[in-house]
Amino acid sequence: MNYDLAGKIAVISGGTSGIGLATAKKMLEDGAEVFIVGRNAERGRRALHTLAMFSEKVQYIKADVSTLQGCKQVAETIKEGPAKADVLVNSAGVYSEKRLEEIAEEDYYSIMDTNVKGTLFLCQSLMPLISVGGSVINIASDAALEGNYGCPIYCASKGAVVALTRALALDFATKIRVNCICPGDVATPMVEAQLKTGQYTLQEMALPYPMERIGRPEEIAHVICSVASPLNSYMTGSIIAVDGGLTAK
Ligand SMILES: NC(=O)c1ccc[n+]([C@@H]2O[C@H](COP(=O)([O-])OP(=O)(O)OC[C@H]3O[C@@H](n4cnc5c(N)ncnc54)[C@H](OP(=O)(O)O)[C@@H]3O)[C@@H](O)[C@H]2O)c1
Repeated sequence: MNYDLAGKIAVISGGTSGIGLATAKKMLEDGAEVFIVGRNAERGRRALHTLAMFSEKVQYIKADVSTLQGCKQVAETIKEGPAKADVLVNSAGVYSEKRLEEIAEEDYYSIMDTNVKGTLFLCQSLMPLISVGGSVINIASDAALEGNYGCPIYCASKGAVVALTRALALDFATKIRVNCICPGDVATPMVEAQLKTGQYTLQEMALPYPMERIGRPEEIAHVICSVASPLNSYMTGSIIAVDGGLTAK
């Protein structure tokens, strides 16, 4: 499957791991030039090493999207390089589980600042550089579409990403398509960290899924690339569940 991304410039926050990394691989395979963004330089180096097997047209931007400064830094790097982008994937995200009574103020900011503020300000910083016909893809979660147990801040953050997507889709409708993917559980380092807490096993995590398993990063990347593709020219403001049937019930 080729998504007609040859010659396109893609910026992927969270492109150093999990869903973002799988998306970077697929976009490179399809001929795009890709900028991956993350905070941890060692993770960035490892990601570049992996991605170099697919194409050399990949660069790492070390930036923290939870700050406006970090988002502007990403835009500055793009301005100094290709000076435009065609695709922005907001995959940078953090997860933690705390029940309402355990939540401290800093827990709120540690999730909202990356998941919501980071998505909003990376869009704001890069929109002026995104070409007409370009595509923004925000990554929310099934937690935005239904309640998940024990993680109210995360659910609220992903609900906000869905609402933000719809608002930006309206404001940019004639120029840039803005869509949102809502994955169910996917086997990435984020889920590995969840499983390490020992509160549940992989088998227990898979139980509610009609397809009887969690997703693979490549399965989400496939949908992201399809939504990003110029072939997909009439879709904007769409909220797309990719969750093995979890939210079909
Ligand atoms: N995996 C799942 O089951 C699942 C399900 C539904 C939705 N999602 C969503 O999908 C997205 C990707 O998740 P994943 O599973 O691929 O997670 P992951 O493997 O933990 O990767 C997260 C990525 O985000 C980057 N990141 C985190 N905070 C950042 C910040 N403030 N600034 C810049 N980069 C930041 C990380 O790099 P650094 O740490 O180096 O910054 C890493 O590259 C997230 O938004 C997540 O909420 C995941």
